[in-house]
Amino acid sequence: MTNSLKETIEAVRKSFLTALDSFPSDTHEIEVLKSSYFGRKGELAKLYAQMGSISHEDRPNAGKAINALKEECSRLFEEQEKKYITPDSTQTDQLDYTLPGEAQRLGSKHPISKTLQEVKDIFTSVGFHIAYGPEVDDDYHNFTALNFPEHHPARDMQDTFFVQKDVVLRTHTSNVQIHLMENSEPPLRYIVPGRVYRNEAISFKSYCLFHQVEALVVDKNISFGDLKGTLEYFVKRVFGSSVTMRFRPSFFPFTEPSAEVDIWDEKRGQWLEILGCGMVDPAVFENVGYDPKVWHGYAFGLGIERIAMLKYGISDIRLFFQNDKRFLDQF
Ligand code: DAH
Repeated sequence: MTNSLKETIEAVRKSFLTALDSFPSDTHEIEVLKSSYFGRKGELAKLYAQMGSISHEDRPNAGKAINALKEECSRLFEEQEKKYITPDSTQTDQLDYTLPGEAQRLGSKHPISKTLQEVKDIFTSVGFHIAYGPEVDDDYHNFTALNFPEHHPARDMQDTFFVQKDVVLRTHTSNVQIHLMENSEPPLRYIVPGRVYRNEAISFKSYCLFHQVEALVVDKNISFGDLKGTLEYFVKRVFGSSVTMRFRPSFFPFTEPSAEVDIWDEKRGQWLEILGCGMVDPAVFENVGYDPKVWHGYAFGLGIERIAMLKYGISDIRLFFQNDKRFLDQF
């Protein structure tokens, strides 16, 4: 190996050791120093570049010497770097504990999910089972089996989304009453939460999609008194025992007699309907093959949005479906 190369190697070594003596404390400066020796245009790369002009017999030794220098420098550099990156205890003491923390924002449950959960908890605590049914169903389960006459206005294109002729997006969860009775023998005690769809003009009080919880109880000796007692218990658990409620006679093709339940809305000074209910019509029992002389039942269908609006004082149903963070953050 030529003397001049030996000298150059030694000179690089010395200048590197001097640089280490005043090792920088700033990450950017550390990077600059690193690349001035180890980078593509750094001192070590320059040494390797000289290999081309060295005679064949000298080349192996020259290579070895430069490699040894590189290894030594890398090791020393890493040692210094580690000292800087792993702070010692004196550095830890300099942490400023008075700096404000970074708040972690948690998501919140949607008011519809919260209301649904509460309704499910109340009914399961008094012996109801939970069932689910199809959102796309045939006309038979959504209407015919529920005793809707052929000309009933609810079958009109205005209210119902048709998927095909005789296939609809269910307009209520009552379709699951039929599925449950077709698939099981009485006695039954079910609630059925789910989404329902209506082809209605959208406004502050109606939307094309909303949620219902259906209930169906079938047994021997079931009376309207059982239905009333269950609903009064439910309403008091949701709204508190000082709630003002009323049963108002109504009509549904699949119940006889039928009623609706209204809750007095203090905020607006008016009644708000939250559910329809009644005793299962004998014609419905006949459609599913239950003997109406032996079996009696009641059913009801709760509107979850209506309950959530009353509970949380929300005045526009569309807010539930816009997913505006400013609205959702309040729950
Ligand atoms: N399905 C009715 C609706 O969507 C609500 C309803 C009324 C459900 C009476 C029932 C019932 O189970 O007995 O308007």
